[in-house]
Amino acid sequence: MKYRSLGRTGWMVSEISFGAWAIGGSWGQVSDQEALAALNQAVDSGVNFIDTADVYGDGRSERLIAELKKERKEEIIVATKAGRRLPSQTTEGYSRENLSAWIERSLRNLAVETLDLLQLHCPPTELYDRPEVFGILDDFVQAGKIRYYGVSVQKVAEALRAIEYPNVQSVQIIFNCFRQRPADLFFARAKQGKVGILARVPLASGLLTGKFRNDSTFAADDHRNFNRHVESFDVGETFSGVDYDLGLESVEEIRQLLPAGTSMSEFALRWILMFDAVSCAIPGGKRSEQVEENCRASDLPPLTPEAMAEVESIYKQKIGPQIHHRW
Ligand SMILES: NC(=O)c1ccc[n+]([C@@H]2O[C@H](COP(=O)([O-])OP(=O)(O)OC[C@H]3O[C@@H](n4cnc5c(N)ncnc54)[C@H](OP(=O)(O)O)[C@@H]3O)[C@@H](O)[C@H]2O)c1
Repeated sequence: MKYRSLGRTGWMVSEISFGAWAIGGSWGQVSDQEALAALNQAVDSGVNFIDTADVYGDGRSERLIAELKKERKEEIIVATKAGRRLPSQTTEGYSRENLSAWIERSLRNLAVETLDLLQLHCPPTELYDRPEVFGILDDFVQAGKIRYYGVSVQKVAEALRAIEYPNVQSVQIIFNCFRQRPADLFFARAKQGKVGILARVPLASGLLTGKFRNDSTFAADDHRNFNRHVESFDVGETFSGVDYDLGLESVEEIRQLLPAGTSMSEFALRWILMFDAVSCAIPGGKRSEQVEENCRASDLPPLTPEAMAEVESIYKQKIGPQIHHRW
């Protein structure tokens, strides 16, 4: 496992880290035992950074991470998120009182005195017109409740606004073979400002593992079943917002590019690591074998310029026309 700096935090984080949404909920059933096995495998593979949120399984994901930290002696940095406990997303909801309550709850769930990194969890775009919210976050840093803060965003435009705030240390954004827009302008700006980038949904919710077919089915409590048409949250979070059949077709084109002995998941993650603005990719994993495979991407040699050009061309011709303008 290789490590990269995360913005100005001084942390060196594993370039393949761990996304802990699926072990919390909304992805079908995962037992505590399976979740802890996946988390332990991540640490065994050199992962030292975990992304979670207060709403994943209503706190279950955070509590499982607290268990992991009890079991392991390695240093593990945990990024959590706040904001999605609001019944509906309003900028007024990001008040001092609400933020304080969410932070206190995450501190209890994670069994720590200070949160390493608190991210606003895809707040409304208008929030970036309200510097007072970032002032409140500065106060929580001063009070020792959080070490650093960042944001998770849906759109590139929000990412660009967020990094105007000088103490935003990280931006979490969807970035993968099927979501290439962040690389256009945002990556250069983030590098300039020394802002860390967490590449989320790196496998397009599993599409880029190459394991799905047009007759694959998903459990009723899996968002790949219940959120395909924006029923619950932004559809960009489900299969990266890409039409399922178009995604399958494009996966087959990418499959032609795999070097011998490299899996589709490894290739997709290694593609992300080709961008040095990225601090880490945070693939989700429900089973230890998945985590082990994903971490192997860090050991692969760089992809060839030809393969990079091909992935860009597949995106431009097939996927981009459908999604590029949306996020
Ligand atoms: N708004 C936000 O801030 C936000 C939104 C989304 C995600 N995130 C963060 O980003 C993280 C990653 O995104 P994500 O979990 O949505 O999507 P993802 O990483 O693209 O996909 C993860 C899923 O793909 C499957 N998978 C992973 N590795 C695999 C492998 N090697 N072989 C076969 N299947 C594999 C697993 O599900 P199955 O086995 O069931 O197929 C896994 O749950 C999340 O965990 C979360 O921490 C944040």
